[in-house]
Amino acid sequence: MCGIVGYIGTQQAAPLLLEGLTRLEHRGYDSAGVAVVGGSGVKLAKKAGRVRDLSEGLPKRFGGKIGIGHTRWATHGPANDVNAHPHTDEAGQVAVVHNGIIDNASALRAELADAGVTLASDTDTEVLAHLIGASSANTLEKRVAEALARVEGTYGIAVVHADFADRIVVARNGSPLIVGVGDHEMYVASDLAAVVRYTTTVAHLDDGEMATVTASGFTTYRIESTGLAATDRRANKVDIDPAAYDAGDHESFMHKELLEQPARAEAVLRGRLDERFGTGHLGGLNLDARELRAIRRVKILGCGSAYYVGQMGASLIEELARIPADAEAASEFRYRNPIIEPDTLYIAVSQSGETIDTLLAVQEVHRKGGRCIGLVNVVGSAIAREVDGGIYLHSGPEVAVASTKALTNMYLAFAMLAVQLGRVRDLSISDGKRLIAGLTAIPGQIEEVLATEPQLAVVAKQLAQAESLFFIGRVRGFPVAREGAQKFKEITYRHAEAYQTSELKHGPLALISTEVPTVAIVPDDELVERNVAALHEIAARGGPLTVITHASVDLGDLAGKVERIDVPRNERELDPILLTIPLQVLSYHAALTLGHDIDKPRNLAKSVTVE
Ligand code: F6R
Repeated sequence: MCGIVGYIGTQQAAPLLLEGLTRLEHRGYDSAGVAVVGGSGVKLAKKAGRVRDLSEGLPKRFGGKIGIGHTRWATHGPANDVNAHPHTDEAGQVAVVHNGIIDNASALRAELADAGVTLASDTDTEVLAHLIGASSANTLEKRVAEALARVEGTYGIAVVHADFADRIVVARNGSPLIVGVGDHEMYVASDLAAVVRYTTTVAHLDDGEMATVTASGFTTYRIESTGLAATDRRANKVDIDPAAYDAGDHESFMHKELLEQPARAEAVLRGRLDERFGTGHLGGLNLDARELRAIRRVKILGCGSAYYVGQMGASLIEELARIPADAEAASEFRYRNPIIEPDTLYIAVSQSGETIDTLLAVQEVHRKGGRCIGLVNVVGSAIAREVDGGIYLHSGPEVAVASTKALTNMYLAFAMLAVQLGRVRDLSISDGKRLIAGLTAIPGQIEEVLATEPQLAVVAKQLAQAESLFFIGRVRGFPVAREGAQKFKEITYRHAEAYQTSELKHGPLALISTEVPTVAIVPDDELVERNVAALHEIAARGGPLTVITHASVDLGDLAGKVERIDVPRNERELDPILLTIPLQVLSYHAALTLGHDIDKPRNLAKSVTVE
């Protein structure tokens, strides 16, 4: 949430900062700003709206070879020009960009106001600019450290100062920051996406670390109560293709990421399927067979779509390994003083590896002596570093705010884990082999589902007309419905409610009418007859139906009266992911019909790094 970029070197900073901000815009896109240090001190330009609004309004004389920039997702104060970052002290000597939340901002604002400081914005960040500006320490690093010592909360910051015009100082506590090494030029950023076109040699700062970045290199320190202690952080080459951050010929990143799913699914499965013994081969768990055998319960923690796929994962683990398992919203978990049991395996699920609620949930587990593994996409992210082991998702960078390919790989990672947990218990080798064969078939079957995009686009156009929809499913199909509703509301802004099919007649059936369509998940499983009966109940009340099902399901006299989308059959236990993919495509085309900015839905941002 929010993006930071900085440049120092031989080129004009502003164009590079604006390019970097464009690449970071998915992280926050309600306002943006840049500050450069040139001959006449710190120059500032900031604007509500998108980065393109900022660049169109940028003064011609905005020269300077050192600068910082920010794209914002508002927390304190509305999205307007004044609240946009960078923030400065009263003299305009210091400029600060900040990701995260300063928890004691109100107290610090009051203290500054009492001291006669005029606060220009409503933000928490501005206090940092004033505190740094007020310090008389002999280095910028010490001034920043003094200010940070007053602050409670999370931050990734970048600071420039007119009196120290040869450096950018950055610091991190709970919000990611990297330093990128170029040729006689250096970059700072909150995300690799901002700098990957210029350098793939980067250093990731740790929490509690600060760096001085000059045109020729960087030095790092640990911020300690006694002062700054040098650390020896080095930059390493990251193995990433810069093209992974481009939408290419696709009209949106979401479309590109939808179509990447077969290849990315292969990537998460590669080398992890043991066909001979019918099991998963997940070395990164750091758990041997005896430890896997000792697990009595599984608790999955994630937010949003990661929580819903966690529900799919819990049902896989219960079904295949017969271990009691459930998923809980990580954002709620630590607030109820959870009981952490030594023989429970906790699993944190996160694409970004940065979601603060999930990170804090992992820390709560650890604080109470529990063991937590991670299903994480971003290598080296905060959650990946915090957990005791886990499974990297190998989805490649996911830029669209709505998660698709990462979610699919989360599901596949859960499936491999469930088979492995099952095989150290009572899951037979033949069942294990059956499931491994099923998993091997999934990338090709995803391809088949994606081939139905033209049909899905037609159905989506109709669904887009409704103000309100139901997504329904049962047992394995219910988390699918929840994820379907989530994706639909996220990018179409229509009201979409997920319900257990079985619960419909206990209340919400009252809402069914010709105006309220239902998208029903009806796999050919043990519940198919009951599910079809529920479809009749909806149809009898005039409710339009879209049915995501298998070709073998007989819809009786509903055939021809409903929109039917068949997905390929796999093993029953693995059905949910193939039933989920059409829902992603439906949401995408409904949002396209409505003319929305699909990659950057209103009010949202990729990576929720604030509570
Ligand atoms: C929905 C979506 C969000 C994320 C959630 C968790 O499409 O993208 O609901 O799933 O914010 O994010 P991660 O997985 O990064 O922890």
